[in-house]
Order: sequence, then structure tokens, then C-alpha cells
Amino acid sequence: MTEYSYSPTGEKFQLPEPEDYSKEYERLKDLVNRQRAIGREIVLVMGVGFVGAVMAAVVADAEDGKGNSTKYVIGMQRPSTRSFWKIPLINRGLSPMNTEDPEVGLMIDRCVNRKKTLTATFTYDALKLSDVVVVDVQCDYLKESLGNVRSGQTEMKALEDSFEIIAQNINPETLVLIETTVAPGTTEQIAYPIIKKMFRKRGITSDPILAHSFERVMPGKNYVSSIRDFWRVCSGINEEATRRVVKFLKEVINTEKYPLSVLDRPIESETAKIVENSFRATILAFLDEWSLFAEQNGVDLVKVIKAIKVRPTHSNIIFPPGIGGYCLPKDGGLGLWAYRHIHGFEDDIFKITPLAIDINDTRALHVAQLTRDALRNMGRPIASAEILVLGASYREDVGDTRYSGSELIVRRLTEMGAEIRVNDPYVLHWWELENQDEYPASSHSLKRFFRGQEKLKDLRVEQDLKKALHDTDAVIFAVRHQHYLSLDPDELVNNAGGPIAVIDCFGILDDTKIKRYFELGCEVKGLGRGHVKRIKDQVREEKEQMLLSAPIKSPKLKKG
Ligand SMILES: NC(=O)c1ccc[n+]([C@@H]2O[C@H](COP(=O)([O-])OP(=O)(O)OC[C@H]3O[C@@H](n4cnc5c(N)ncnc54)[C@H](O)[C@@H]3O)[C@@H](O)[C@H]2O)c1
Repeated sequence: MTEYSYSPTGEKFQLPEPEDYSKEYERLKDLVNRQRAIGREIVLVMGVGFVGAVMAAVVADAEDGKGNSTKYVIGMQRPSTRSFWKIPLINRGLSPMNTEDPEVGLMIDRCVNRKKTLTATFTYDALKLSDVVVVDVQCDYLKESLGNVRSGQTEMKALEDSFEIIAQNINPETLVLIETTVAPGTTEQIAYPIIKKMFRKRGITSDPILAHSFERVMPGKNYVSSIRDFWRVCSGINEEATRRVVKFLKEVINTEKYPLSVLDRPIESETAKIVENSFRATILAFLDEWSLFAEQNGVDLVKVIKAIKVRPTHSNIIFPPGIGGYCLPKDGGLGLWAYRHIHGFEDDIFKITPLAIDINDTRALHVAQLTRDALRNMGRPIASAEILVLGASYREDVGDTRYSGSELIVRRLTEMGAEIRVNDPYVLHWWELENQDEYPASSHSLKRFFRGQEKLKDLRVEQDLKKALHDTDAVIFAVRHQHYLSLDPDELVNNAGGPIAVIDCFGILDDTKIKRYFELGCEVKGLGRGHVKRIKDQVREEKEQMLLSAPIKSPKLKKG
């Protein structure tokens, strides 16, 4: 049966048939022969997702001191119904991601259409042609319960399959650079034995040239520079692998300005990633209790944090007290899992890391409570209230919905009987809801932790904000997308058709806007924004003053 893959805009692409593979390999061989003839190294990026697609373009854009392109890049993607569409899009010079950084699209277009240093493919045969393989496939952490990371496990299948496929195809001299965030120990204790075993089967006696260097990419406004112009950590499994990974990274990213940290062993590079993300997750979780404190005691945590951040020693305290995150909810879990399942320890040394993840994983539920209370103050029950969630993605200015805090808000509010609408300028399809029976895995939707979730399959992201606002009872500012920062309270209330409940999850509203919403008869609440009550009282006093000082109009007497 013919299968299709649909791009987020609905364009339909037929998945390759068996006979397409040999044709595609011939196309690549021809391209590679011509590229080698002009001295370019062939780099294969495996997995053109949020990281791989942009990394592929950064490598393809790399030039030597004389302005000559040094690499030819093949982005390789599994031809699955969910992801195949990325291949034809890249081959037209289009970015598969919707992002605020214009450089992503420009760079992919430049490399595909002008420099001709980038192509995308679906065939694993491309591995046979590569000098370097960069692994950018995902390694997820699947949780078995809500708010208990310990009960979860690392989903290694995609990654283990990738190592096996790589080992079946590459030349022994090919550098394999794992960029995926992995459970510490993966490169040496999982990738190495898989590849070594396959090499032996193929009669290859040398060790694989294997290295790890994690990505610190921040999809959003500085997407490209967060890959190219940023510090990197790397390590190889032996001297040769270390030499090769250092050489490669020096050729493709800006290591002059952002020097490399070369560590002794891959487990150290892998651990560095998990520790730095657990550190951020911990600060976020730590601020959650202070966010609740602030709400209950008239404190604006946004201003408190701003005041603290001026101390150079405290400048990295995370602001504002928001929710969500793709890597932060999973990476610490990879660490706990590795301790037991890769390294074989029975004791439980982790306290802070799992606690931080558990707090972050459930903090979004509080937004549903704030919404309920704001509506109650307006005399409207949450059940059957129309609620608009602004932002489906996990962070601002990017269309990535994995582990987004908004999903939890939507699920809890749905359980409480509310009717949900969603707007997100970067997200055309919210697969975690639309495809909740299969995505992220058949038994791993967050829907299993909530009741009454069936109707969320029919929820579609409304791109027209005006339409989304029409007749709504509440608006939740769930993500700090650029588009939402300048929304005017008068316009918003006007489009909603009257006063609404406004919930600010990300310190988006300043005091002037909060005041204006109250003046318009709205109710405002926000994570860590305990001071809104003061503003509300001030508006009420001002209204009372106005009423008192207004001249009392005497009824007009009819002339007669
Ligand atoms: N997204 C981020 O902000 C970010 C930041 C830093 C690090 N990372 C890490 O980078 C890694 C990749 O993340 P991502 O966001 O790009 O994930 P992603 O899911 O967007 O991309 C992974 C891609 O790999 C493909 N894939 C899986 N198995 C494959 C195979 N055998 N052959 C070819 N392709 C295959 C998938 O189809 C998908 O397109 C993860 O470990 C992640 O933690 C991500």
C-alpha cells in the first residue's frame, strides 16, 4: 500500500518504494564523486530534526580561510510517515522548522541552492559514502507516572538501531560523532560494543572512531549561532577519535572565539550535558516554591528576581518563573537511569535531580488552579468555560511541543470541564493532542494521567488570533512568544467581546498592562505575581474615587 507523509502545511509526499532506494543511492554516489573531486569531505548527519537539520546546514556552510566550502553534507532521515516530508523540503532549500531565526531558512537555501553543499536523503546506503557521521537522533526518557521520574526509563531503541545501521555501513576510518544527549556511559558501553561487534562480523579488526560532543542549541531567535558560535565540549574513545573530533569541530564551528573543552573520556562529555541541564532544572524547580510564596504574599517574583540578578554571583538565576522545556524534563532521568542500568549500581544517590524534575513536571497544573480561581472571581464556573491558551510549544519563538507545559494545562483544564482553544504562530499541528493515541508512543501520551481527554484529538491550533479570541472567557499567556509580548489589553478584550480572566505564566504582563486589564473589568492572575491584588485594589479605589467625585446629576425637569 502506498504511504504518505504530510508536512505541517498539509503538503503530501509519497514515501519511497523499494525500487527508489537504488536510484537514490546512484544519485548520491554521483554527487559524492563530484564533491570528492573538488576536495570536499563528506559529512552525513543522521536525523534531521530540530538539532540535525540546523547542524547539517552549519556544516554545509563551513568555509576555509579562503572562502571555499570544505564539506559536502548529506542529511539523512528515516522515511517514516511522520518525518519523511523533511527530506523533500530540505532538498528545495526550505527549513523544516518554523522558527524566529531567519538565518535558518537563509542558510539552508544558500547551501542547497547556491553553494550546493547540502542534500537530504532517506537511504542508509548514504552512510557508505561518508567520512564523518554526526548522530542527531533522539534519545527519549519515557515516564511511567506523572511527577515521578524514577519510575521512567530511557528509550534507547532509535539510538541503538542507529548505531547498528551505522556499523553495518560505514568505512572503518569514518568518524562517528554522537551529538545526541545520552545516558552517561552510552558512547563507551552501548555504542562501542554494538559497532565493534558489527565490525567484527564484517571482518574489520580496528576500533571504531567514536566520539561524543553534545549540542547546546537553543531553537528560537539565535538558533544558528547557538550551534555555530558557542562553546563545545567533546571527547573521543581514544587518542585518534579525540584528534578527529577536535579537527572536525574546529573546521565547522567557531572554536577560535568559543574554544573547545576537550575532556578525557566520552562519559565526561555525556555527564557534562546532564549536569548542566539538571542544574537549570533545579533552579527552575527551586523557584517554583518561591513562586507560590510570592502569589500568597503579595510579592511580584518577576521584580524580585530582577533585583537579585544584578548581583554578579546570582546573574544566572532563571527568570521568569515559567514552565516547560524539552531537555530539562528528561535529561536528569537519563542520568539516574544510567547509574542503575548502564553502570549497575543498586543504591540511590540522587535526591535533588529527580525532585527538581518531578516539581517541574507538575508545576503547570497550578496554572489550571489559577484559571479556575480567576474565573470564579468573575462569577463564571470553569466547567464549560471557553479558554484560550496562547502558546503550545515548550519555549518562546519555536514550534517544538515536546514536553510542553501547555499540554499539562490543557489536559487538566479539559478534565475540569473547560473547552479549550489554542493559538501558536509556530505550531500548525499539536501532535501530542491530535495524535494522542500514537504519539509520542502508543502507551505514553500524557492523556493517561487525566480523565475525559478523548475530545482533544479534535483540537486544532487556530492561527488567527482574532478568531481564537472571539467569545472566550479566559486567556492564558502560556509561552513568551514574541507575538504575545505586545498584545494590547483593549484590543484583546474587545476581540474577546468583554471582560475575561487573564493568566500570565511567564511574566509577560507589566504593571501597566495588568492595571489596564483590571480597569477593563478583567481578572488577572499569574505565576509568582502576588502583587496583582494590590493593582486590583488600586483600580477599585480609583473607580470608587471617580464615582464619589463625579457631580451628582439632578433629574431634568420637563419644561411646561
Ligand atoms: N531540541 C533541542 O533544543 C535540543 C537542544 C540540545 C540538545 N538536544 C538533543 O539533541 C538530540 C536530538 O534532538 P532533536 O530535538 O533534534 O530531536 P528530533 O526528534 O527533532 O530529531 C531526531 C530525528 O532523528 C530521526 N531519526 C531517528 N532515528 C533515526 C534513524 N535510525 N535514522 C535516521 N534518522 C533517525 C527522527 O525521525 C527525527 O527526525 C536529543 O538527544 C536532544 O536531547 C536537543
